[in-house]
Amino acid sequence: MEESITARRFTASLAHDIPKHWLPGNEVVSSLLNAYTILVPANEAFYIRTLNACLPRMGDEALRARCQAFIRQEAQHGVAHKRYWENLDAQGYAYRGFERAVDRGIFRVMDRVAPLWLRVSLVSCVEHINAFLGYEFLRQSILEGADPHMRDLMEWHFAEEIEHRAVAFDLLQAVSPRYSVRVLGAVMTTTLFYLLLSGMAAWLLAQDRLLWRKATWRQVSHHFGSGHGMGRRTLEHLRNYLRPSFHPGHLPGGDTLAADVLERQSGRQPPSVVPMAART
Ligand SMILES: [Fe+2]
Ligand SMILES: [Fe+2]
Repeated sequence: MEESITARRFTASLAHDIPKHWLPGNEVVSSLLNAYTILVPANEAFYIRTLNACLPRMGDEALRARCQAFIRQEAQHGVAHKRYWENLDAQGYAYRGFERAVDRGIFRVMDRVAPLWLRVSLVSCVEHINAFLGYEFLRQSILEGADPHMRDLMEWHFAEEIEHRAVAFDLLQAVSPRYSVRVLGAVMTTTLFYLLLSGMAAWLLAQDRLLWRKATWRQVSHHFGSGHGMGRRTLEHLRNYLRPSFHPGHLPGGDTLAADVLERQSGRQPPSVVPMAART
């Protein structure tokens, strides 16, 4: 697959008064994406360590270049999301202890105990999740009406997840193409990802004393049920990943959605994303 992967810096300021619930009228989606923001840096650092561990033994030069471009994009995602943490701190949220515990108790342990083929399989599956989340959020314009800075941050990230969606899967085919390896990685990743994301979002909502409000559960049902349909769509995307013939390149309209976001954000004055010079 010949995708083009450009590393970009997210240059828009996040140091302003972003509301706690920056998607108006939807504290659930705001909190889910705040949880995503908290979990992203350690998660993506794990992808980067995993791909870096594969590079020395990689014979395929094209795949190596794609992995390096992937690493450069993911590194910028972590930097940008961490900038937003200052807002979460100023808003009084407690999350840093939990974030550190997840990094030390899960990702650093995986580095030590999980074989490289399993780590690549975990990254391949979570990259599928990142790409289909981005795809669904962009396709349905879920963040329309959100605080413009947070909308830019999330949509830039989503667009790049769509852009590099096939790299980790193609790496897995090179490292360990066995179907059972894909399934094992998918079961572990899906369980972990959704437990951590929903647990962290619930903890943020509990700190706001919104968790047990009726409106919160109406928003949950709208997001996962009849509104955004994320429950059904998530199951469809996960089922696709388990089809033996699956390849992430097949995502109808995904490339156009991503290109539109990136063009809009880099073409604006001042731009909120700036392409980085290609490494030679
Ligand atoms: Fe990312
Ligand atoms: Fe990614």
